[in-house]
Amino acid sequence: MTTATSNTAPGTGPAGGKPVRQTDYDPMTTPYGVNENDFPWGGPADEQAAFLLRYAILAPSTHNTQPWKFALVPGGIEVFADYSRRMPVVDPGNRELLMSVGAAIFTLRVAAEWFGMECRVTYSHSGDSERPLAVASIARREPPAQGDEAIASLFGPIVRRHTNRHPFLYSRVPRRFCAGYGGSRSGAGVGGRLHRRQRQQSGQRACRRRRPDAACRSPVQERAG
Ligand SMILES: Cc1cc2nc3c(=O)[nH]c(=O)nc-3n(C[C@H](O)[C@H](O)[C@H](O)COP(=O)(O)O)c2cc1C
Repeated sequence: MTTATSNTAPGTGPAGGKPVRQTDYDPMTTPYGVNENDFPWGGPADEQAAFLLRYAILAPSTHNTQPWKFALVPGGIEVFADYSRRMPVVDPGNRELLMSVGAAIFTLRVAAEWFGMECRVTYSHSGDSERPLAVASIARREPPAQGDEAIASLFGPIVRRHTNRHPFLYSRVPRRFCAGYGGSRSGAGVGGRLHRRQRQQSGQRACRRRRPDAACRSPVQERAG
């Protein structure tokens, strides 16, 4: 099993990183040096699947814990939650830990699509580190999805995005961004719509953080006056 975890501090990767030759690539020290031109097009299936993990490990994770493990198995990849990385005080229910593993799986799916692989994920309710949380079956599919704009818009940012740690904006996500979350031919797109009540609740939480002494009003109330 591989932990395939990077130890690069947030913020030192995509912005400051330089492309490195494949021989220099090391998931521990140069994770953002991944180069799509190094994809082993003629290589065996397990080598191709392993390459996809270079992208999966760039996913965001709660407090940068990277609480995932992967095992290459015939026909795909087993994904494990690494509960040794749980943060019982800030994340007692492992909710954010599981969201982080989900982010890694999503990134894996996007990379698979990009390189023309069929990636089907089966989830289980495993609550321990020994059994996989999900199994990604990966198979070749032609043609690659590089011409698919929806996949391109998700794949490119994998190596560019990083968390800026600025305070959350107290404003709505602009409509033009929401429009792009509709989905892709593979269904790998993310749902961009929050239920109205969730939006109000998250707005109220942001309000409390910014103005803990103020009576909290939802974004809807705020705009109304
Ligand atoms: C489920 C989840 C919750 C997160 N919560 C916060 C948060 O509350 N505040 C914040 O600044 N970043 C948050 N992050 C971002 C992580 O801190 C960030 O992904 C991690 O430090 C790695 O840095 P990177 O995103 O630049 O790769 C969260 C990420 C995930 C996946």
